[in-house]
Amino acid sequence: MHAIAPSVLSADFGNLQREIERINLSEADYFHVDVMDGTFVPNISFGFPVMETLHKYAEKPLDVHLMIVHPEKYVERFCDAGAWSVGFHLEAVDDPMPILSLIRAKGVRTCLTINPDIDIHRLDPYLDQVDMILLMSVFAGFGGQAFIPETMEKIRYFRSEITRRSLPTLIEVDGGVNIKNAGGIFAAGADILVAGSAVFHAADPAAVVRAMKHSAE
Ligand code: DX5
Ligand code: ZN
Repeated sequence: MHAIAPSVLSADFGNLQREIERINLSEADYFHVDVMDGTFVPNISFGFPVMETLHKYAEKPLDVHLMIVHPEKYVERFCDAGAWSVGFHLEAVDDPMPILSLIRAKGVRTCLTINPDIDIHRLDPYLDQVDMILLMSVFAGFGGQAFIPETMEKIRYFRSEITRRSLPTLIEVDGGVNIKNAGGIFAAGADILVAGSAVFHAADPAAVVRAMKHSAE
């Protein structure tokens, strides 16, 4: 799978409906929805009012990335608000299993994510418990950061592990993805690439989405 998930974090919020509609017309596969609480990460993004607007106008599934403490308090509300998938950080919780169950009980896809400084093997026991894993290729908190090259080896590891165990689990990569590096990231084994600034700060976002989506062909 070679999918692109533009992150609305980098959209122009003064023209959110127009920004959403531009992506609707593109070859993008999802909208990536970055929710930050100012505690798990040193930044605050947006919450339910923006989620409502996205749900109203978006014609692609909403891929929600929670960068919050106590995700167990909010995952169901994001499911009810129209999420297609809900992901949270493994390092933000003691035990992800009950939280994954809350999401799954809503019929929504589950995702576990880790920051770049977290031991990747902490994800191993959950590879068969989630629909996807999200590997952060920057430290969660801000758009516009540079892709951390060491992520490539992590993608290759999970691709081989998922293949070895014959799992359907998808690999999503988030942070610093652009037209230049997208092809290599897909080639390493990623299924879904998140891109915020590369898409929304471009003069022609749809062209960037198209170029990234077909970059590994
Ligand atoms: C970072 C967010 C990313 C971010 C990506 O905390 O999780 O999704 O929006 O932005 P770019 O593509 O600009 O690195
Ligand atoms: Zn994200």
